Amino acid sequence: MKVDSVNRREFLQKSAVTVTVVSACLCGISGCAMYTGISETPAAEPDAVSFDGSILSVDLAAEPTLQQIGGAVKVRNADTPDGLIIARVAENEYAVASLLCTHRNVELEYDHSDARFRCPSLGSSVFTLDGVRESGMARRPLRSYQATLEAGSLKIRI
Ligand code: FES
Repeated sequence: MKVDSVNRREFLQKSAVTVTVVSACLCGISGCAMYTGISETPAAEPDAVSFDGSILSVDLAAEPTLQQIGGAVKVRNADTPDGLIIARVAENEYAVASLLCTHRNVELEYDHSDARFRCPSLGSSVFTLDGVRESGMARRPLRSYQATLEAGSLKIRI
């Protein structure tokens, strides 16, 4: 019986191409955030954030992302293990909600074009700025937080 010989180099090259194509397809179909759980929302500057036990303060002069209307940051540390997302929605208006999508805990992003919090995963959940679930795979609302401006700092009662 004759067995076709396979050139080792050709075999490895074809295998590498196949692996690359499969990886690109999985990422494109499902959304990378579904796997990592990490959104593109930038983390707040560590020096801008402080916590006194029940109030989380964000020094807005030290947080450049929130100096722009439409900017949003996440805060996720030992004081807020589940995290918060903070969005500047207007000149003196901020929205604060829990960071994780209530479907499978993927970090949310702020969409300033329609003032919504969106999950970047395949389930595409959408929440209002008050945390109300509007659409997508999530069934529960986000937790929303009161935020007030005091002397250049955003004060959020946790
Ligand atoms: S984690 Fe599935 S919709 Fe957000």
